[in-house]
Amino acid sequence: MKVKVSRKAHFNAAHRLYRKDWSFEKNDAIFGKCNNPKFHGHNYDLIVSVTGEIDPETGYVMDMKILKDLIKQEVEEAFDHKNLNMDVPEFTELNPTAENIAVVIWNKLRPHIDPENEIEVVLYETPRNFVTYSG
Ligand code: NI
Repeated sequence: MKVKVSRKAHFNAAHRLYRKDWSFEKNDAIFGKCNNPKFHGHNYDLIVSVTGEIDPETGYVMDMKILKDLIKQEVEEAFDHKNLNMDVPEFTELNPTAENIAVVIWNKLRPHIDPENEIEVVLYETPRNFVTYSG
């Protein structure tokens, strides 16, 4: 019997979507306002879910305190109030779209969570736009 447990978190960050190898005009056509050279911010909402068997001793799939601390250490401390393009090494050569941010978060969390459990990352860039990555 598998159960999914989830933890919500939040961070604010700035970004710019563009490709160095494209002209400003092409970047503008593809990325629109997100290509603003002076950057812009989003209030990101994150939901990390862990799916696995309930431990018969504790009754937990995963101790939520441990998940909370892990998200704080790996995501909030790395991304909150940062410029993703300039301050976060993962995005030096990778466009910080919601899709890529979700994959980076998943990759940062995966080594710290029991390999028997599946993990899923849902990232809201706006209240209406969100992406999901499960590996
Ligand atoms: Ni944006």
